Amino acid sequence: MRLITYRLSKNLEKMVDFYSQFNPSSLSIKQFIDFGLKANEQNSYQFLKKELPVRLANIMKEIHLLPDNLLKMPSVNLVNNWYTQSFNEIIEFEVDGGCTEQTLDKFCKILVKIRNRHSDVIQTMAQGVLELKDSHKIDLHTEKSIQYFLDRFYMSRIGIRMLINHHTLLFGDHINSNNHHRHIGCIDPYCDVISVVKDAYENARFLCDQYYLASPELEICKSIDADDEPIKIVYVPSHLYHILFELFKNSMRAIVEHHKTDILPPLQVTIVKGKEDVCVKVSDQGGGIPRSLSERMFHYMYSTALQPSKSDAHTVPLAGKFFFFKMLLTQIQKKKDSGYGYGLPISRLYARYLHGDLVLLSCDGFGTEAIIYLKALSNEANELLPIYNKMSTRFYKTTDHTIDWRSTCNRTPISQQQFTQTQ
Ligand SMILES: Nc1ncnc2c1ncn2[C@@H]1O[C@H](COP(=O)(O)OP(=O)(O)OP(=O)(O)O)[C@@H](O)[C@H]1O
Ligand SMILES: [Mg+2]
Repeated sequence: MRLITYRLSKNLEKMVDFYSQFNPSSLSIKQFIDFGLKANEQNSYQFLKKELPVRLANIMKEIHLLPDNLLKMPSVNLVNNWYTQSFNEIIEFEVDGGCTEQTLDKFCKILVKIRNRHSDVIQTMAQGVLELKDSHKIDLHTEKSIQYFLDRFYMSRIGIRMLINHHTLLFGDHINSNNHHRHIGCIDPYCDVISVVKDAYENARFLCDQYYLASPELEICKSIDADDEPIKIVYVPSHLYHILFELFKNSMRAIVEHHKTDILPPLQVTIVKGKEDVCVKVSDQGGGIPRSLSERMFHYMYSTALQPSKSDAHTVPLAGKFFFFKMLLTQIQKKKDSGYGYGLPISRLYARYLHGDLVLLSCDGFGTEAIIYLKALSNEANELLPIYNKMSTRFYKTTDHTIDWRSTCNRTPISQQQFTQTQ
């Protein structure tokens, strides 16, 4: 790979500085829905042409705070360049005077281009960390900084993609063709949790069968609400699918490897809806995880499976430490947000993005329970986004990090006021 040394032009650097002064606007799923129902492309364009540079600039400033030796890794440099390019393309709309049909059309096309450009960001950044591990000894502070950064970086990416997907699904070319008729942008107001569970299970099972020639059955323990109705939730189905697919892969691998030639105990799923939370519990009898290792499961650098080789980075985007899925994943999962032993930490980010969570409880020698918490009320499901400020800057030098995430807004930032006014 040709290494292009990353340089921001002076002008661009100023623009990044400017936009990074603003906090990203954290939206609630209800706002996404309300906005989608009114579906005014011009308003969405006016909002995004400011909000996207703000989100990009916030995270670009943090990329620059990474340890020098990591920044110099070819894959990190590549990611860095993608962000610069995309930022540059978006801020071109700043000077774009009128909001004509051509402008809107061009904007949509640029968004699609940016989304495609960034589709391999997770595995490329992961590869950058592996490059650093291969060439340097990583001390504890560097490891903590990387963990801290990756959580923020990947969360920022989830938020940016959410905005892009919502806009392009509402106003893009393939409007009404690809998207489910019931969906509003990327949100399903009646997301049937059990269908997503079954879908993710079937796809994970297909992969498991291919490799191990066996797979555990699925047992649904409970999936109805107090009125005996199937549990529905206002949610982004692709996010829920992603989390469940990762959990099923992990559980299936654990079950099959733990029981070897014995009869495989089933995977059990319980779905319940309370006043505040919708919980999806995935239980397996896959032998569990020792308590001493349980904290590390959400570390980006932790996996007990095979490490992908360097050459996997760009040729097999889904190559993970869960090696047997490598070739097959590309056939079955169009999204490429997995790999390199990042299954659990990324899934937890998807859950936390809308103020849910992912928690694992394990009994060493027996099995593991993973609980996905989702907000039952759509007005409580706000985006959780990293903000760049002095606190986050300080973290890379010390280990202090308290007020550098944005969720429910105490003070409505300018761009969100604009968003609300447009409705
Ligand atoms: N249900 C489970 N039972 C036993 N061990 C588990 C379970 N889930 C996760 N683990 C352990 O946690 C590690 C990290 O899981 P994670 O999903 O983050 O990465 P991975 O499965 O190794 O790689 P990838 O998900 O990218 O293919 C696994 O390697 C495995 O050792
Ligand atoms: Mg995994």
